[in-house]
Amino acid sequence: MQEKINDLLRRVEEFAPKAAAEIEEFRIKMMGKKGEITALMEEFKSVAPELKREYGQRINALKQTTLAKINALKEEAAAKVEEEVKIEDMSRPGSAEQLGSRHPISIVKNEICEIFSRLGYTIADGPEIEDDRHVFSSLNFPPEHPARDMQDTFFIEKISNEPNVNDILLRTHTSSIQVRTMEHQKPPIRVICPGRVFRNEAISYRAHCIFHQIEGLYIDRNVSFADLKQSLLYFAKELFGEKTQIRMRPSYFPFTEPSAEVDVSCNLCGGKGCPVCKGTGWLEILGCGMVDPNVLTANGIDPNEYSGFAFGMGVERIAMLKFGVKDLRLYFENDVRFLHQFDSVL
Ligand code: PHE
Repeated sequence: MQEKINDLLRRVEEFAPKAAAEIEEFRIKMMGKKGEITALMEEFKSVAPELKREYGQRINALKQTTLAKINALKEEAAAKVEEEVKIEDMSRPGSAEQLGSRHPISIVKNEICEIFSRLGYTIADGPEIEDDRHVFSSLNFPPEHPARDMQDTFFIEKISNEPNVNDILLRTHTSSIQVRTMEHQKPPIRVICPGRVFRNEAISYRAHCIFHQIEGLYIDRNVSFADLKQSLLYFAKELFGEKTQIRMRPSYFPFTEPSAEVDVSCNLCGGKGCPVCKGTGWLEILGCGMVDPNVLTANGIDPNEYSGFAFGMGVERIAMLKFGVKDLRLYFENDVRFLHQFDSVL
C-alpha cells in the first residue's frame, strides 16, 4: 500500500497537462468513482487496525495534494483563456470607422482666411447677438435711413423707445466685428472677420436666413482705391486661379464711399458665357469700398489722417461657385453623401 501511495504521489507531482481538457480527465482518473485514489480508500478498509492511523494520514495527504494540484492547474488554464480572449483575432474582418469630413463652408472659409493672412490680415471675432450701434448706427446708418431696409433684421429686444436705439438683434453682417476692432485698436488695422450672420429671408436655393460672411477692413495712412483693387485681384487669383480677372461696378453701401460690387471672370467657361454666369462671363462675389469718413469719425479715427477700405462676401456663394453647387440649402442639411464629395478637397 505504501508503494501505491508513493507511486500515485509521484504521478500527481509529475502531471503536466498539454491541454486544459486533460486536467478534468486526470481528476476523474484519480478521484472519480472508479478513480485510483478512490480505490485506495476501499483498500484502506482492510488495513490492520494498528496501521490505520498512519495510512489514513498518508492517504489524506495524497488526496489533498492531488486536489490542490488540480485546482491550481484549472485556475492557470482559466487565466490563459482570458488572456487569449484579450488578444485581437487578427483574422477577424475589420470594422472600419466612418470618418467625418470637413464641411465645404469650413474648407472655403479657411482658404479665404489663409489667402488674406498672407497679405498680413489677422482674424477678428465678435458676438452673433449684437446691438444696433455695432451693426447699424456707427456704420453710418442714421435712424431713419432707408438703407436700413436693405437688411431684413431679426430683432430680439427693444431697450429704448427711441427708434433704433440700443435694439438687440442678430447681426446681419460681420461689419459689426470691424466696428469692435476700430473701438479697441488704433490704425494700422488689417483684419478679416469671418462669422455667421442672420437675415429674415425666405429660404430658397439661393438664400437662407443663416449664412456665413467674411468681411475685411484695412485702415492706415494713404490707403487708396488702387490698394483695394490690387488686394482683391490677388485674392481672386489665389482663390479661383491665376487666369482670373476682376471687374468693379459702382454700387452703394452706407458705410463705404465710393462703393463697388466686384465680379470675377467665370471660372467655368473662362469668360465666354455659360448657364452659371448667365451668359455674361462674370460672377458677382463681393461688395467693397473706401471706408466712409463718417464711419471713421464715429469710431474715433481721424479721417484727415487715415483712410481705409472694406469688403465683404458670402462664403456660401463663393463655395457654390468654386464647387459648382446649385442649391444653397445643401450646405445646411449635412447629408453625408453630399459632404463626402468634398473629402478630396481638404
Ligand atoms: N456689409 C456688406 C453686406 O453685408 C458687405 C460689405 C462690406 C460691403 C464692406 C462693402 C464693404 O452686404
